[in-house]
Amino acid sequence: MPRAPLTLHVAAEQPGPQISRHLFGQFAEHLGGCVYDGLWVGEDSPIPNIRGLRRDAVEALREIRMPNIRWPGGCFADAYHWRNGIGPRERRPRMRNDTWGQIETNAFGTHEFLDLCALTGAAPVICGNLGSGTVQEMRDWVEYLNAPTGTVLADERAANGHPSPFGVRYWGVGNESWGCGGLMRAEYYADEFRRYATYLGNYEKSQLFRIATGPGVDDYHWTEVMMRECAAPRFNPGIMDGLSLHYYMNGGVPPAKTQRTLHATDFGAAEWRTVMAHAWYIDELIARHSAIMDRHDPAKRVKLIVDEWGTWYAAPPAPARSTLCQQQTLRDALVSALTFHAFFKHAERVHMANAAQVCNVLHSVLLTDGPSTIRTPNWHAFHLFAPHQDAHRLPLSGDVPQLEDGGLTYPRLSAAASRAADGAITVTLAHTDPSEPVEITLLGLPLSCKPAARLLTSAQLNDCNSPEAPDRVAARPWTDFIHQNGIFTATLPPACVIAISFEQ
Ligand code: AHR
Repeated sequence: MPRAPLTLHVAAEQPGPQISRHLFGQFAEHLGGCVYDGLWVGEDSPIPNIRGLRRDAVEALREIRMPNIRWPGGCFADAYHWRNGIGPRERRPRMRNDTWGQIETNAFGTHEFLDLCALTGAAPVICGNLGSGTVQEMRDWVEYLNAPTGTVLADERAANGHPSPFGVRYWGVGNESWGCGGLMRAEYYADEFRRYATYLGNYEKSQLFRIATGPGVDDYHWTEVMMRECAAPRFNPGIMDGLSLHYYMNGGVPPAKTQRTLHATDFGAAEWRTVMAHAWYIDELIARHSAIMDRHDPAKRVKLIVDEWGTWYAAPPAPARSTLCQQQTLRDALVSALTFHAFFKHAERVHMANAAQVCNVLHSVLLTDGPSTIRTPNWHAFHLFAPHQDAHRLPLSGDVPQLEDGGLTYPRLSAAASRAADGAITVTLAHTDPSEPVEITLLGLPLSCKPAARLLTSAQLNDCNSPEAPDRVAARPWTDFIHQNGIFTATLPPACVIAISFEQ
């Protein structure tokens, strides 16, 4: 028996704030198989590559219109010394990556990262080393990247093959400085941020957007201190442009007080619900951090940058193929859909986000296996949502039942609508109920147009993609609806993500 029908009303003529394309960013760290094997295979590899970058990965990231990518960490960022990753590759030092216990060849460094950005069309987001570096080292990296030739550092960049400045704009000043980035107190880090950020230069074509380490999950004290001390300091009120937030669903931190016990693929409806609830908890986190930011910065100048988010499951009984590598199912695609919807709700404050991580680590859009590059169900969620990039949010109202799991609530059906510059309207739906279909009616849509829709679902909740079955879980065209006189009706299958576009 289907559940009670749900009716949603889209106010198609009332465009609201812009949904920044940067909400769909990715994150690549020197961790496990993310950079090496995943993105970087090397120029001599039999795996098809463009100047050493895995060709299939580049194409897949272009297709989801990856708007930005954060690098080199994560925790690794606060141990990374950029000079090790420039110049002739054969002369770069081979060393230990102490953060993740693996060998670092430094074959993938600044120029390789920026080549990846250029090939995929993504804006670079670089996280500088505050934990074990120096102010001088960080400011020199910015000069090396962004200064016009004519200084020693800019000329060195030119000698390394890139005469024109890279124009890097987004700059993280340390990572998780409350944890792996130095175990600092908020009060101490606030001063460190002010000191480091002071010396990071702006150049002709690149005004830096300085991102401070923000809270982990629900550390509201951190947000309070950072906003109090850095949102508008007396002699440089614009020094902090963004404050980061990190949240891993089932990350062994509140609300998942238990350690990581949920598995990536071995789960049923109960664990499905737990993950849905943890995904939607990001809405509460953003609302509460934003309320603190609003008190200090009512004009919303300082943006919230969710530069690490995603699912983080328990390690499987057998060792993973590489550190923190986990499979992706439809459940993870739903997590992304719910997370995007939460970001859109708070579009006035949340400007950028980075899913952790792009390839072979945690909440990945790509998994690689030798020569195979597999697009995960999560890749399909990013693909379905791409039309929302830079569109304007449309108000959407309706009575949607809230479900409950372990004291957290989440919507049975989560939805968002936006209008793009060309007038096209996109509606995305995430149906979180794993067992029952639901009838829906959408009102307020354009009268005269033929909607085109795509549906992402799977026969089993824990189906996943592999080299043998790369498209087992994939979005497919969906026509099982009626659209007449601006009224759209359909029965949604259990557990699905849908994107409908109404082109005028
Ligand atoms: O994404 C994996 C790790 O999680 C990152 O290195 C760190 O910032 C976070 O704790």
